[in-house]
Amino acid sequence: MIMNKLRYEQFFIDGHWVDPIERNTLPVINPATEQVIASVAMGSGKDIDLAVAAAKGAFPSFSATSKTARKDLLQRILNVYRRRYDEMSELICAELGAPIKLCHNAQTAVGVGHLEATIEALDAFEFEQKNRAGDLILREPIGVCGLICPWNWPINQIALKVFPALAVGCTVVLKPSEITPLNALLFAEILAEAGVPKGVFNLVNGDGPTVGAALSKHPNVHMVSFTGSTRAGTQITKDAADTVKRVTLELGGKSPNIVLDDADLAAAVKANLNHCFQNSGQSCNAPTRLLIPANQYDKAVALAQDLAERYRVGSPDQEGNHIGPVVSLAQYNKIQALIKTGIDDGARLVFGGLGKPNGFECGYYVKPTVFADVDNAMAIAQEEIFGPVLVMIPYRDIDHAIAIANDTPYGLAAYIQSGNVDKATQVMRRLRAGMVRINGSDIGYASPFGGYKLSGNGREGGEFGLEDYCEIKAVSYPES
Ligand code: NAI
Ligand code: MG
Repeated sequence: MIMNKLRYEQFFIDGHWVDPIERNTLPVINPATEQVIASVAMGSGKDIDLAVAAAKGAFPSFSATSKTARKDLLQRILNVYRRRYDEMSELICAELGAPIKLCHNAQTAVGVGHLEATIEALDAFEFEQKNRAGDLILREPIGVCGLICPWNWPINQIALKVFPALAVGCTVVLKPSEITPLNALLFAEILAEAGVPKGVFNLVNGDGPTVGAALSKHPNVHMVSFTGSTRAGTQITKDAADTVKRVTLELGGKSPNIVLDDADLAAAVKANLNHCFQNSGQSCNAPTRLLIPANQYDKAVALAQDLAERYRVGSPDQEGNHIGPVVSLAQYNKIQALIKTGIDDGARLVFGGLGKPNGFECGYYVKPTVFADVDNAMAIAQEEIFGPVLVMIPYRDIDHAIAIANDTPYGLAAYIQSGNVDKATQVMRRLRAGMVRINGSDIGYASPFGGYKLSGNGREGGEFGLEDYCEIKAVSYPES
């Protein structure tokens, strides 16, 4: 099996695979089988010290490389990534439990998409410009970056951080999620094979409070980019405050989907269910609150029930359009607790609910679940569930729909369905969210990904992603 080749017990520091300073390991569990599939070294602050020193040492030369040299490096990474594509899909399938088709078509594919978009953005990026005052404005790499990643779209997040950082000339220390560390070990092999200069890219595995916090607090780290829970994002921001680091955060969401009264109701409900349940609901931008005009509500609930009944759960290693388990027992328990809260709070269970689907006693499988008669003040409408759970909320008129949509601590994404794009655009302008997708359209790789309010700070992807890794220098010259 491919996985045996990975260096589970080592870190990638200063261009070499090295042993951790202290021996400590964590099992990686396949969530579909509950079997241990690997045992991965967990680092300490001392490993971070070494990795940061390597990144600091490499910064002067790497930050002085030409744009062409860095473009060539990214292109070489793309070539190796493409060659090792299927290995990546298999690893993500095994450690995350995402179905192999989703891994192939999306989880691994986004690595290619983001890398191509980063190369294009780098091509067009102006590192030096004269402004209206006649001064020279430089964009320079900010320095050593600590990159802390989650497990739900693991390569997506690694790609959105590592590629732009390298593109502008930063050096990095990556800490992947301890729940899904295998894809990151393969990622490190890909970068090593592509010839990334020593010290430019470093990887240390470990948990958040030990290794993650060591990065956030490190005096020689100039920026931390984090994706994950709002809880951890808040802690990282506090830990980074004493050293005045730049902190960029991509956190949770509770994204609304407003179906306007002139939309194709059946198509809207179907698309919403598919997107909400995709990746077993473990997507920060999932449309988890479906807002329906009151006079079409009963019809929409009946449509959702019918679709949910036909929704399939299945083993991730099988081909097909089913959903797999959720990533861990901890996530399974969190989702069960929120479903129970929904029932206790008086929401109406239309489909799914507590416990595992029939025939899936082994594995962290959750029933695709739909709640109706949900009041937006309920916990299931306010908290990020991160499982295949949809809540359906009726609204009276458009002002009411917008008030419900914005009545959330988050502001990552929003969705609008309408037969009239101009009408949808008017609604779009009133939504407090970083990304608005109209009638099933997708936001491109080159477009900024990120959110308002508790959904975070900063934007990833394309030129905005490059900006986030730059410092700005203004230079004046005497008049000649
Ligand atoms: P988490 O936020 O604890 O884990 C994400 C990453 O943060 C991991 O690499 C972890 O090691 C690191 N981390 C945790 N605490 C840290 C600290 N104090 N300092 C530095 N790094 C730290 O997320 P968890 O517990 O796995 O999931 C809990 C919930 O978070 C999910 O149910 C979901 O609601 C949300 N979440 C949101 C994600 C998103 O894409 N926005 C991704 C993952 C989780
Ligand atoms: Mg965790």
